[in-house]
Amino acid sequence: ESTQLKDIISHAKEYGFVFPSSEIYDGLQAVYDYGQNGVELKNNIKNVWWKCMTQLNQNVVGIDAAIFMHPDTWKASGHVDSFNDPMIDNKDSKKRYRADVLIEDKAVELELKGELQQATYLLHEMAQRLTNEDLDGVRQLIIDFNITCPVSGTANWTEVRQFNLMFSTQTGSVAEESTTIYLRPETAQGIFVNFLNVQKTGRMKIPFGIAQIGKAFRNEIVARQFTFRMREFEQMEMQFFIRPGTEMEWYEHWKAVRIKWHQALGIPAKKLRFHDHEKLAHYANAAVDIEFEFPFGFKEVEGIHSRTDFDLSQHQTLSKKKQQYFDNDLNAEGKPYGNYVPYVIETSAGADRLFLMTLCNAYTEEEVTEGDGVKTRIYLKLHPVLAPVKAAIFPLVRKDGLPEKAQQIFDDLKFDFNIIYEERDAIGKRYTRQDLIGTPFCIAVDYETLENNTVTVRDRDTREQKRMPISELRNYINEAVSY
Ligand code: GAP
Repeated sequence: ESTQLKDIISHAKEYGFVFPSSEIYDGLQAVYDYGQNGVELKNNIKNVWWKCMTQLNQNVVGIDAAIFMHPDTWKASGHVDSFNDPMIDNKDSKKRYRADVLIEDKAVELELKGELQQATYLLHEMAQRLTNEDLDGVRQLIIDFNITCPVSGTANWTEVRQFNLMFSTQTGSVAEESTTIYLRPETAQGIFVNFLNVQKTGRMKIPFGIAQIGKAFRNEIVARQFTFRMREFEQMEMQFFIRPGTEMEWYEHWKAVRIKWHQALGIPAKKLRFHDHEKLAHYANAAVDIEFEFPFGFKEVEGIHSRTDFDLSQHQTLSKKKQQYFDNDLNAEGKPYGNYVPYVIETSAGADRLFLMTLCNAYTEEEVTEGDGVKTRIYLKLHPVLAPVKAAIFPLVRKDGLPEKAQQIFDDLKFDFNIIYEERDAIGKRYTRQDLIGTPFCIAVDYETLENNTVTVRDRDTREQKRMPISELRNYINEAVSY
């Protein structure tokens, strides 16, 4: 892990953003808990996404489907047959790896050594063999390229096996009656199976979308890079139902909308890029990732996929229930009445990845002069709409009625914003604590406050303070945290 990622992971832990799950038992790999500041930041990301998707788009509505679904759902979606990763074990170290990841790592190593042709060849061969499911071929590549196990150094590999990423469990209390069910590996299917419920009850006309935020589970073989790849994570997905033949137009539309969204939340354009999929998933006819430049390189944070009518058609076949839409507008345009299975453009973002992206982007180390010396100031340059705490209110000292006055301001603003009141320690220390969690404003109550009802407001990024009447605080904060 890169140095900067290490700093961010320890910052996240030290200041109550992310803890390893069940840490007192030494944690559980690739599972994390969000702490008191982390939950606020993550909720803010989800709320802004929800608002932008549903409230700002007249033709997009939300749902909240269950995590458990009928087992046939996953046959229809292709997950039972195709949601696999190639897995290989090292007999010496007894460690398990994703074969494609080992090969990719080797390719990066070759690239760094300047052996570009070798690297390209390796990646090309791997892609070919994975598409043909030639798992022996994948194993042979590992042996031929002398890809050694990072632990033992000798390569004594088992065969490569397909490993399904879905977690399963049982319903029913009696053994004979029990059925295997899965924890959903994506939220999308909860939307597909409710397509007609929402369309009919909401009297929705195509094109329209359904959005959802919820947990998804994948038994990832390699779990690395903190909340980037987790076994339990949260997705924010939107399925946009359209007329067949209009998919490229809507695909481009949502690509543009989604990349702008990330930029509006403070991610610089140069740290974002599109990456077209060379290898399409079983359901897609076009697919692109939005990638962010993490400390460990450009990596996917969101996918935009043109899923055709694959999912709805599959559900129609397996459930034997028609999944069609009657398009009145086609008639109005002089075209024949049409019943059709809609096409779908999907936008699919991971809340935990956006959280990590936000944290990596906000984490700032800055040299500042203080007194005679220079010191490093660390702060989180979060967009105010995402900041866990919007403002902190401090009485300068703990006497002469200042705490009471500060408490009054706190009580007046607490209904509108997540704010905190703090009176312990010197005021400089209190400012630093707020910088570390990204609080955009610190409001100080001093002796002048008692005379003329003004306070100082300190800006997190510039550290400048200005005086302001108490009566203006609400508007001032509101303007900054509106989106
Ligand atoms: N419905 C389409 C779908 O699930 P995906 O590319 O497999 O597509 C979409 O996942 C997004 O979900 C990814 O861009 C990523 O942000 C997030 N995601 C996927 N697997 C994840 C994992 N193991 N941990 C955290 N986030 C994950």
